[in-house]
Amino acid sequence: MLEINNVTKIYGEGTARVVALDRVSLKVEDGDFIAIMGPSGSGKSTFLNIIGGLDRLTSGEVMLDGHRIDNLGENELVDIRRGKIAYVFQQYHLLPSLTAMENVLLPLIFCGNGADEQKVKTILARVGLGKRAEHKPSQLSGGEQQRVAIARALVSGPSLILADEPTGNMDQKTGNEILELFKELNKEGRSILMVTHSADIAKQAKHIITLQDGQIISKAALQLVR
Ligand SMILES: Nc1ncnc2c1ncn2[C@@H]1O[C@H](COP(=O)(O)OP(=O)(O)O)[C@@H](O)[C@H]1O
Ligand SMILES: [Mg+2]
Repeated sequence: MLEINNVTKIYGEGTARVVALDRVSLKVEDGDFIAIMGPSGSGKSTFLNIIGGLDRLTSGEVMLDGHRIDNLGENELVDIRRGKIAYVFQQYHLLPSLTAMENVLLPLIFCGNGADEQKVKTILARVGLGKRAEHKPSQLSGGEQQRVAIARALVSGPSLILADEPTGNMDQKTGNEILELFKELNKEGRSILMVTHSADIAKQAKHIITLQDGQIISKAALQLVR
């Protein structure tokens, strides 16, 4: 579904020049679950940002379902991301003054699909927050806030979920619960690309890639009893 071909990203110029990604190529099949590891500064976030259209590549190409998406304009990108690609961040990025329900409704309102509260209730229940719809972020635990963020990512029915250290702020138990949720979403057929520092989490994916200095230094397929 997703093909990344020879992607290079260079930030800055002269002495400030940083090669954040150096000719990275990767194929993501439908239903794949890839963990991305590597030291801090190795290019993991840059990689996800370029796939998600939050950042522009310097050279190379990104193809989604046979169409180039790295050279699209802002509006087209928004259209593509809205439908197919969703993002989950380490820091949740919820609006503090809105309830869980309202945070999840927001993308529906923005894309003009109308505020379908029933749909959002179903999704909140899906992520285990059926009884938290009226809570604001400050009234929720970190794990619960991340569930809201995941619910918000799910409203568009994405086939690919990009997650940048989604369990990075959590204790191990909470992180594992969030991982279980991602595994369920993967079993439903959604592809997942997840950055993680935890080897325990990474080994529950289907593949692990490791970045170092902007290059993929290893790709491993995991044999799993699921
Ligand atoms: N907006 C930016 N401007 C300049 N350099 C950047 C920018 N974003 C990231 N970098 C640099 O690119 C490299 C990769 O960063 P990043 O993708 O955030 O790594 P990771 O997520 O693996 O920690 C780092 O050296 C970082 O300093
Ligand atoms: Mg990062």
